[in-house]
Formats: sequence, structure tokens, C-alpha cells
Amino acid sequence: YERNNARPLKQRLLVVANRLPVSAVRRGEDSWSLEISAGGLVSALLGVKEFEAKWIGWAGVNVPDEIGQNALSKALAEKRCIPVFLDEEIVHQYYNGYCNNILWPLFHYLGLPQEDRLATTRSFQSQFDAYKKANQMFADVVNEHYEEGDVVWCHDYHLMFLPKCLKEYNIKMKVGWFLHTPFPSSEIHRTLPSRSELLRSVLAADLVGFHTYDYARHFVSACTRILGLEGTPEGVEDQGKLTRVAAFPIGIDSERFIRALEVPKVQDHIKELKERFSGRKVMLGVDRLDMIKGIPQKILAFEKFLEENPSWHDKVVLLQIAVPTRTDVPEYQKLTSQVHEIVGRINGRFGTLTAVPIHHLDRSLDFHALCALYAVTDVALVTSLRDGMNLVSYEFVACQDSKKGVLILSEFAGAAQSLGAGAILVNPWNITEVASSIGYALNMPPEEREKRHHHNFMHVTTHTAQDWAETFVSELNDTIVEAQLRMRQ
Ligand code: G6P
Repeated sequence: YERNNARPLKQRLLVVANRLPVSAVRRGEDSWSLEISAGGLVSALLGVKEFEAKWIGWAGVNVPDEIGQNALSKALAEKRCIPVFLDEEIVHQYYNGYCNNILWPLFHYLGLPQEDRLATTRSFQSQFDAYKKANQMFADVVNEHYEEGDVVWCHDYHLMFLPKCLKEYNIKMKVGWFLHTPFPSSEIHRTLPSRSELLRSVLAADLVGFHTYDYARHFVSACTRILGLEGTPEGVEDQGKLTRVAAFPIGIDSERFIRALEVPKVQDHIKELKERFSGRKVMLGVDRLDMIKGIPQKILAFEKFLEENPSWHDKVVLLQIAVPTRTDVPEYQKLTSQVHEIVGRINGRFGTLTAVPIHHLDRSLDFHALCALYAVTDVALVTSLRDGMNLVSYEFVACQDSKKGVLILSEFAGAAQSLGAGAILVNPWNITEVASSIGYALNMPPEEREKRHHHNFMHVTTHTAQDWAETFVSELNDTIVEAQLRMRQ
């Protein structure tokens, strides 16, 4: 704080998300090694010089003993991270269960689990109880570290109950909540047994943000139709208290990708990849291995393209990077086997002794290898069945300024609203349409590629993650918290 002034020199932020931006590996009873994962949110907040952010979240590991917990807290403190310790049972019911078996599929229009899917994790009610309990544990840690003047920014579907818990602790706390997934049509949200309780707890926040205007509109409709509240152009009003609701489309740190292409290691990778795939066009998919990403649909569309275009058989290759995720959830395990089965069948059908049409990797790539891959790609395929935004499409565009490759993009990804004019938009469920778009993209004349790329590149480089974070936080600062409202009345 400045000496005679209550305004912080830098805006202090408490960023609360289910997962901390570091992965922790235990090396001994009291020693840990930490690796920072530079996801979108981390680079967004690191890039904003006016912020001094601390992170609160789960470290992704079970640490039952006090010695281990103390050592991990100490190691994390150096990275400005504060852990929330969740035991195995809570993780099972809250993270695997309510978050990833119920909310995640529902918000992506894949419906609520049927009995057999529910049975794998016990009942709906016990999962919801664990969800609330976990959110309360996050709130306890936030409350312990909160200092007057901090702004608390809660992230994603894991923490919909958090704004309410925080306001119960301290009504003066400035609380924002941002959803990184779609918010579905109110008709879908209505099916959720805990629909009202979740909406009410989110409404306890001062500012509620979504990636697109449509998601914000769906949220306001859910509040008006399900809770009977009043929707205004500003947000949702309940007995004189306004919760501001708005769209804040996220971006990437485009400079980080553009700069990476100059790094000698990346240039070497690019050279190797060009030699390896010389004479073939490279198509690329990079996804977490998640049912919302439409990976089976994408691969089937590629198969259809090969079926219909024999002249392309030895001239194109699809590289699919499928990063394993949520591997304890049975639906994800099923998806892995399904994808392997399809890839194997297609490679068996169209492969030769020296080449296969699909290279499928079940792992992530390091940042530099990924940038090189983006740079050599001719056509990127993003075929999500639903996706909050999809930043892979942004990253691809940022790395394509010399090649000017084509982006095939699902109309059901939030990114379709920003990159729609430059990309070829497809309905990922329509395999015939995706197959013909692949042909169109591979044959696209350079002038059209250049024009489309230019449009997207301009967008990606001018709507960055830093702008997104700054806009959200400054708007949150401008909201009037309920306590102030009451004083005014
Ligand atoms: C999505 C969610 C994030 C989540 C990420 C990885 O992007 O919106 O909140 O962190 O997936 O999923 P995981 O379950 O591994 O944290």
C-alpha cells in the first residue's frame, strides 16, 4: 500500500481455481518438486504488470500427512501458490463425480448421467454434498489469506458454490466468478437437480463472466426462468441487488508463441518435421482426450475424406495429439479405447509398409515442440462438439504467419464467434461436411488462405489474454458490492 493512501500500488488478486498452475511431485517425506504449467490463465495474469496475483487451488495430489502438507505449502509459497488439500474421497465425489461426471457433460450438452454412470460414483446427492463441502474448503483457505483490498477471482464450474461461501464470510469481499465452459441453454440447466442452489450461489458474486454473449444470455435466462428473477441489460437483479453479467472473451499471450518460433530449438524441430513429412500435407489436431472435443468424429471424417479421395492417400497425414485427462472417470477410459480402436482400423485400412495416415499420440508435447508442430501444419482441425472457447485454434493462428494454413473450426466452439470469418466453420456431427471441408482446405488457393489467415491473425494478436484479464478485473473493481449498496440506501 502507498503510505497515506488506501489504494494498493498494484491490484492484489486472489485467483481461485480448482487446479493450481503447478504440478507437484513428491520426492521424499518433506520434499517436493514443482513444475509450473503455463496455461492460458497463468500467462494472462503474468502478462499484466498491474496485478500482484496469488493462486489458491488443489495441487492435484493426495497429501494425507502433516509433514508433507507443510513442506508442500512452503514450496508452493515461493511460486505464490496456496494449496487446498482435498482427500481421496472428496476428490472422488467432488472432482471425478459432481464436476466431471455431472456438470462438465451437462454444460457441454451431453446430458446428465444415466443410472449406470451415476452408480460408478454413488448417488447424485452425495456428490453434490461433496461439491459443496469442497467449495467450503476453498472458501476457508481464501478467507484465511484475504486482506482488505484484495479482489477475489473465482474460476470455472468446479467453484460455483464459492461466491456464496465467500460472501457469507465477508460481505465486503469483492468477488468475481468466470466460467470457462459454455453455459447451456436454460432448458438444459433446468434438468440439473441442484439447478437453483447453484444459480443462487453464483449470483452472490459481484461480477459473473462468460466467454461469449450467448453463454451470458443463457445464464440470465436460467435465472429468470428458474429463479423468477429479473434480467436487465446489466445482469440479474434480486431485491435491489444487481449481479453484473457480461461476456469477456479470453485470448492467448500471442507474443509468447510468435517469439517461440525464433528459438533455435524450435527452428530445429520445424526443420525435422518438414523433412519427416516432406511431400505430404500435414493436418493437426491437439486436444485433451475428452468427449467434448469430438475426436472420434474428426477421425471418422478424415477416414471418409480418404475413402472419397484415393489420390490423397499418400499425400496427407493427420497428427492427432490427445492429452490424457481425468483418467479416473470411466467415460474418459471408454473414450480412450474407442479412439484407439478407430485409429487402428483406419491405419490398417489405408496404411502401407512405410507410412500410416494417422499418427496418434496419447500425451502432451512440450511448449517448443507444440509451436513447431503448429508452424508446419497445413490444416488444423478443431471439431469440438461444444467448447467454452478453444484456445488451440488461437495458438495455431499465432504460429502460422509464414505458412498461412487453414483452420477448420467447429461452429460449437466459442472461438467460432471470433475466428469465424477466417476459419472454415463446420458442424462436427456432420462427418460428410467435415470430410468435404478437409478437401476444400487442402486445395485452397494461396490468396484465399492469406486473406482468411490475416483476419484471424489480427484478431488473435489484438485480443490477448492480458486484455481479457485486465478488462474483467477492472470491471469487477467498478462494481458496487452489496455492503456499499446497503450503506447507500
Ligand atoms: C478445462 C477446464 C479447466 C480445467 C482444464 C483441465 O479447460 O475449463 O478448468 O483445468 O479443462 O482439466 P483438469 O480436470 O485436468 O483440471
